[in-house]
Amino acid sequence: MLKRTFVLGLVLLASTPGIAFSAGISAGFAALGSLAYTSFDALRCKIFVCCNDVWIPSNIEGLSRELAEKLHGQHLVQRTVIGHVKGHMRTSNPPKALVLSFHGLTGVGKNFVSRIIAENIYKGGLRSPFVHLISATKEFPHEGMVEFYKAQLKSWIEGNMTRCGRSMFIFDEVDKLPPLLLDVIKPYMDYYDELGGVNYRRGIFLFLSNSGGSAIAQTVLDHWQSGKKRVSLELSEVEGKVTRAAVNSDSHQGLWHSQLISNHLITAFIPFLPLEKSHVKKCITDALIDRKYFKKRHTIPSEVIDSVLKELTFTPTTEQIFSSTGCKRVSEKVDYVMMDREVVGKESWNMPGGRKDEM
Ligand SMILES: Nc1ncnc2c1ncn2[C@@H]1O[C@H](COP(=O)(O)OP(=O)(O)OP(=O)(O)O)[C@@H](O)[C@H]1O
Ligand SMILES: [Mg+2]
Repeated sequence: MLKRTFVLGLVLLASTPGIAFSAGISAGFAALGSLAYTSFDALRCKIFVCCNDVWIPSNIEGLSRELAEKLHGQHLVQRTVIGHVKGHMRTSNPPKALVLSFHGLTGVGKNFVSRIIAENIYKGGLRSPFVHLISATKEFPHEGMVEFYKAQLKSWIEGNMTRCGRSMFIFDEVDKLPPLLLDVIKPYMDYYDELGGVNYRRGIFLFLSNSGGSAIAQTVLDHWQSGKKRVSLELSEVEGKVTRAAVNSDSHQGLWHSQLISNHLITAFIPFLPLEKSHVKKCITDALIDRKYFKKRHTIPSEVIDSVLKELTFTPTTEQIFSSTGCKRVSEKVDYVMMDREVVGKESWNMPGGRKDEM
């Protein structure tokens, strides 16, 4: 649009009475204008955020690598997320918007994965102007205001998608959204070519919720009790249970009876499995490094990891397999254990601010 105005301006200038140019020269002006605009636009988009490949680099390799390195215990998530995001980004005209519904108990990585997707697809990650995180309890707290929220949500999505068709919307705590609010965004996820002159098919929508989390945990427990390896659990063994739990959720909120499900507009239901001790240990190691208590993984004494592990609770009461809060409270427990050690003075570990030798 901007480009057309710019070029048209130059052509008009060339054909203004008193400025006599031949048709050839007018065409030259148009070509020159187009070139000047392209250079100007390239420069502008180097400095300011634009809805283009520079600001939306869609780094699928980076996404695969980070999920493989940083995400623990979620083999189903890893495979499905990469497959769907890759499939969606590889064409400039996908058949519909990508809609992924993340399900799982607390602290198993739903926000963590959303952040990794945002960071690898968009420059600036969650801070990119094309990435929008909406928390149900923060943005839509009152059930009585659904009609108002619907209008608000609709115009907000339309505004953002008009600005950039490659926008990503992350709806957090979907299970706490007022009932049927999400149905208002149904048209934007459908197979329409355009709505009101805007193409919504390149958008990405992520729904995060705890619904289905207990059903997933029960399936993993059954799988474990039958002596099978966790990684042998197939998506097909969990997917149906998650969908049913979401659609029939007791809270009657979020995706409950939603047209998004009945009209098959959700690309995939992605189950996040409850985390076991071995995964939590990896999260503890990550936190000890991130928070600079240690420089190298192999130098972390196992008793430090065990001390943090002891601060967390595991379920079911008899088997004690799954962390009740996944990896969510790991960072604060790491700080607590390390500070406690410092106070007690049991060891001379490398505390932030540095006290001890290189590790
Ligand atoms: N599977 C995982 N692998 C590695 N780290 C994880 C994993 N799950 C959680 N974490 C760590 O725990 C933190 C909290 O997890 P996250 O916020 O993603 O949980 P959630 O699934 O969104 O939980 P909730 O339902 O309570 O919102 C993350 O920032 C990350 O550091
Ligand atoms: Mg979360």
